[in-house]
Amino acid sequence: MKAVIVNEWVKPDELVIGEMAAPELGAGQVRIRIRAASINFADILIVQGLYQEKPPFPFIPGGEVGGDVIEVGAGVRHIKAGDRVAALCGTGGFAEEVVCDAMTVVPIPDSMDYVTAAGFVIAYGTSHVGLAHRAKLQAGETLLVHGAAGGVGLTAVELGKLMGATVIATASSAEKLALTREYGATHTINYKEEDFRTRVKEITGNKGADVIYDPVGGDVFDQSLRCIAWEGRLLVVGFASGRIPKAPANLMLVKNCSIVGLYWGAYARNNPQVLLGSLQQLMAWFDEGKLKPHVSQTYALEEVGAAMDSLLTRKSMGKVVLTM
Ligand SMILES: NC(=O)c1ccc[n+]([C@@H]2O[C@H](COP(=O)([O-])OP(=O)(O)OC[C@H]3O[C@@H](n4cnc5c(N)ncnc54)[C@H](OP(=O)(O)O)[C@@H]3O)[C@@H](O)[C@H]2O)c1
Repeated sequence: MKAVIVNEWVKPDELVIGEMAAPELGAGQVRIRIRAASINFADILIVQGLYQEKPPFPFIPGGEVGGDVIEVGAGVRHIKAGDRVAALCGTGGFAEEVVCDAMTVVPIPDSMDYVTAAGFVIAYGTSHVGLAHRAKLQAGETLLVHGAAGGVGLTAVELGKLMGATVIATASSAEKLALTREYGATHTINYKEEDFRTRVKEITGNKGADVIYDPVGGDVFDQSLRCIAWEGRLLVVGFASGRIPKAPANLMLVKNCSIVGLYWGAYARNNPQVLLGSLQQLMAWFDEGKLKPHVSQTYALEEVGAAMDSLLTRKSMGKVVLTM
């Protein structure tokens, strides 16, 4: 089968397409004919050897796909050949076929196409578990979302609004901020041009934001601790800026605030019920028309380097998806 094959740590623009044998199917597993696979920031880190998990060579990157089940292994009950599904595979998704553990495969509604399915689970799952389960966002609270037009950021805006919060969105361009308004942001701040800390204080009457969703890290995290409300929760989602920040404990003491970590994928090992409950809620909301996943660009498998570059150069909005 055709696949993106990593034989050594490479930059995204050095990725190559090759032929590899389709993976073997084992008990409890499902074989999927991949129709689409989304780019997550983790894929960009993993091919460079910069991610917390380092697969042995050779490997196929790609953690999230949409497609058709073509074969199931012994013991698989809830999925059958012919099902249209979204699946999390960790690696192996930038190819024509992948084999995944059946537990990571979910049937998708008829109303969801493969491109949407490929970019749905991680982005919405991360924001939903983060906001509802970790940060315990309440209706009526103020939610500040950074990188708000990005893959996870835009879902945080949309879900925050759906959960009854007033959403303040930050992003680096007018076009990105306009998109966040379409997804429910009441206030927008271009954090490349304005000091977001001052603006958040103005917007909230000096109170600060109750919950801050931060996939950017670096300076954005540092300044967030200075515009967080009393008993606020700063959700550590990621470090797209490239710098992992350090937290001054004195600010947490003075403001009675919490820094709350989020590693969504780890719930699969430690508490799968949280993931399953969240996914059921998200699929139901999608089916009811309450969620409108945004895919800004699609690329052919051969264009994987360009697709990754779109995230790295901050051009993408919502999700970027490869189609097979
Ligand atoms: N904790 C978890 O479980 C979990 C799950 C999924 C993703 N993540 C993490 O969340 C982060 C965002 O992932 P994503 O898939 O949403 O990526 P994405 O679509 O590329 O969004 C990242 C956003 O960060 C902003 N940004 C600021 N500085 C940047 C820089 N130097 N390079 C690139 N973007 C920059 C960009 O918005 P502006 O241009 O508007 O600033 C961009 O829209 C990543 O660190 C990822 O690893 C964590």
